[in-house]
Amino acid sequence: MDWIRAWNTFQAYCDLLLRRTRPRAYPLELSLGTSSYCNLRCIMCPREGHEGNRMPFDQPVSADYFHGLAPYLRRANEVSLYGLGEPFIDKEYFRKVEFVHSFGTEVILSTNGILMDEKRRREIIRTNLRGLGISLDAVTEKTYSIIRPPGGFSRIVENLKALVAMRNERHGNRPLIALSFAMMRQNLHEVAAFPELVKSIGADEAIFHTSLYMSHAMKERIEPDAELQRKAVAETIENARKLNVKLTYWNLDPMTYLRSLEYTGADSVPQQAGRSYYCRHVWRNAMLQGEGELFPCCYMTNHRVGTLEEGDLRVLRRKPFMAELRELHFEGRIPGPCRNCPQLVPYRRKQLLREAWSEIRSAWKHSWNGGMENKTGEEHVGE
Ligand SMILES: C[S@@+](CC[C@H](N)C(=O)[O-])C[C@H]1O[C@@H](n2cnc3c(N)ncnc32)[C@H](O)[C@@H]1O
Ligand code: SF4
Ligand code: SF4
Repeated sequence: MDWIRAWNTFQAYCDLLLRRTRPRAYPLELSLGTSSYCNLRCIMCPREGHEGNRMPFDQPVSADYFHGLAPYLRRANEVSLYGLGEPFIDKEYFRKVEFVHSFGTEVILSTNGILMDEKRRREIIRTNLRGLGISLDAVTEKTYSIIRPPGGFSRIVENLKALVAMRNERHGNRPLIALSFAMMRQNLHEVAAFPELVKSIGADEAIFHTSLYMSHAMKERIEPDAELQRKAVAETIENARKLNVKLTYWNLDPMTYLRSLEYTGADSVPQQAGRSYYCRHVWRNAMLQGEGELFPCCYMTNHRVGTLEEGDLRVLRRKPFMAELRELHFEGRIPGPCRNCPQLVPYRRKQLLREAWSEIRSAWKHSWNGGMENKTGEEHVGE
């Protein structure tokens, strides 16, 4: 029985059901970047220009800082242990995983998979991670090296096959292994073959999604033709069905990030009069980059809310910028960057009551199993 986690989950749902724009609960989910260094230079990655990316590149977040997160880890239901950078560069990465697990909190992560050698594969299995995402964005070495220079596709595929074999042999279904594909002009011709690759590797799920543009220059460089993209999406879905591969399509609005760069805070227009919305991310999650820098979400990275030196996460999440954002959503006056964002969903009280009951029970029983399946903006096909 875990009454601390259950109480926090209860408070979080009270916040939402009572429409508190300054929540009293701690975040139910944390997104924690452990290192901003990367061994690749992907053409679409926001890493270089991120405002939270001011720490030295070769320095993962310190153990002292990480241990200071204990009160939040104790109350959260899930941690995404990665940010902008390659998580496995951090030599202490699995100690951080264990530290999070010591609070009974689940961990998921996303990696490029290049450093997933035998030692790390053993650590992945030993630590019993809940979910592991590997970003591929290609089905051939040639395209991979264009999107994710300097490349390493064959090595990643080998690493992945070895991981799947190790997992199947020892632990059954943990971690859930999902391979992802961010569509761009440079790789659109390969997305339809992605389900086949996922099947040949033996992974559990294929995720494909549109790419966000971090600047107008990036948009010029990677934006695919809209009609070709629509056809590629339809073909990929069809192939996944034929092959019986579980496929999740995140239809992110590629313009969201560009608009976020122009976000002024109060600028908004009525979206659907009389309709009330809420953002699952700003309500559930706190995104910390570097050593304790809070951002509203991974799209609004041009606005740093504050740092943990100024106050704890509850204080930071109640700052005027965040309160105003929640209020605008509730009132249906949707700010520019949020329009079409998959995290923004209609506010439905009955559905929230059902979710609250299920999530509080999971927290109480200390067997968290919600989260990914409930995320909005996803379309599951080919199951
Ligand atoms: C920033 S990476 C960090 C973790 C790890 N280095 C990796 O590549 O998986 C997290 C995810 O963001 C995705 N990503 C990077 N740039 C993106 C963009 N412009 N639009 C959409 N997703 C993007 C990557 O493909 C990856 O799946
Ligand atoms: S591997 Fe991940 S963090 Fe590194 S550049 Fe590519 S997308 Fe960005
Ligand atoms: S709805 Fe707005 S605040 Fe929420 S994740 Fe999307 S862009 Fe960020």
